[in-house]
Amino acid sequence: MGDAILRAGNPGRSGHALSIRSARDLFAARERLAELFGCADSSRFVFAENATVALNQAIKGVLRPGDHVVTTSVEHNSVMRPLRRMESAGVRVTLAPAGEDGVTEARNVISAFRKETRLVVIVHASNVSGALQPVDAVVAAARRRGILTLIDAAQTAGSLPIDLSSLPVDLLAASGHKGLLGPQGTGFLFVREGVPIVPLIEGGTGSRSESDHQPEFFPDALESGTRNSVGAAGLAVSLSWILRKGVGAIRRGELALVERILHGLSGMPGVTVYGPTDPARRGSAVSFRVEGMDPADVGARLEKRAGVLVRAGLHCSPNGHRVLGTFPAGTVRVSPGPFTTRAEIATFLSALRKVRDPSA
Ligand SMILES: Cc1ncc(COP(=O)(O)O)c(C=O)c1O
Repeated sequence: MGDAILRAGNPGRSGHALSIRSARDLFAARERLAELFGCADSSRFVFAENATVALNQAIKGVLRPGDHVVTTSVEHNSVMRPLRRMESAGVRVTLAPAGEDGVTEARNVISAFRKETRLVVIVHASNVSGALQPVDAVVAAARRRGILTLIDAAQTAGSLPIDLSSLPVDLLAASGHKGLLGPQGTGFLFVREGVPIVPLIEGGTGSRSESDHQPEFFPDALESGTRNSVGAAGLAVSLSWILRKGVGAIRRGELALVERILHGLSGMPGVTVYGPTDPARRGSAVSFRVEGMDPADVGARLEKRAGVLVRAGLHCSPNGHRVLGTFPAGTVRVSPGPFTTRAEIATFLSALRKVRDPSA
């Protein structure tokens, strides 16, 4: 309790000890984000409440009436809904089709480019099928044409290496509470220097207070109002852990568990697995269905009988499910993280084997 009160100083607003302490927490988290993602300038990382807010800022801050945007048919609603909103403001949207395995071929995205194309938005890994999307090829092709790029890294930040010094993406959004292992209420948008972007929200930044115009320098340009310094303090701790462990090691661990899951599911009667068969073409999510059962019932039984927590349904990505042919009931999704053990995967597989048996 005492510590929570001590941390209540408003970052960047005063010169007193509590304010400075909060500002340091924010700065530490920002610096660690920059280190994790290979960027020399931490001021390009703007804090947001979650990936959704970061994606909205990127999409609505860049697109103008008359612009064209290309995205994929496996995006999350945090991309699709702002894009649909922008359509009513005179923006045209093209969805590049994905294959049945949830992978969008780069050529399908690139062939949708037009001369008015201003932005490409692409998810790094689908949160439905787990399928990795061809971000490198798409970013390279868009850059050659002067088209801005936005990656939704909600499913991959902290789980898959992302190096902004070699991947010339313009904007990248992620949650703090998924693979970055931070508290809910944290997330960020990376904005490369020189990318023209208008803030969604203007207000107090604690800087240039003599002016009634929003500062143009980063991160203040896109950070108005009191920041979540308590969340940032937590995120700074989890980022330190990830930096010590190494994203490569986290990826290897999660991949080994995904392989186990895929191997276990492949031999199970009545179970259909979605997404790429090659685990290396996936993030850390595996979606499946059990013949004759509603995914929600499968999820409920896994929890009740074995304490296994999964997410069932449409995963806020109806399009991702349409591609797999699993709309509207959705799938059951299991997603190992860095603290998931092999024993837990064995428990899950064993519970799933018995899930259709009402007496088990
Ligand atoms: C691919 C993808 N994008 C965006 C989001 C939105 O993330 P947040 O809940 O941090 O807003 C999610 C969350 O599930 C996601 O999986």
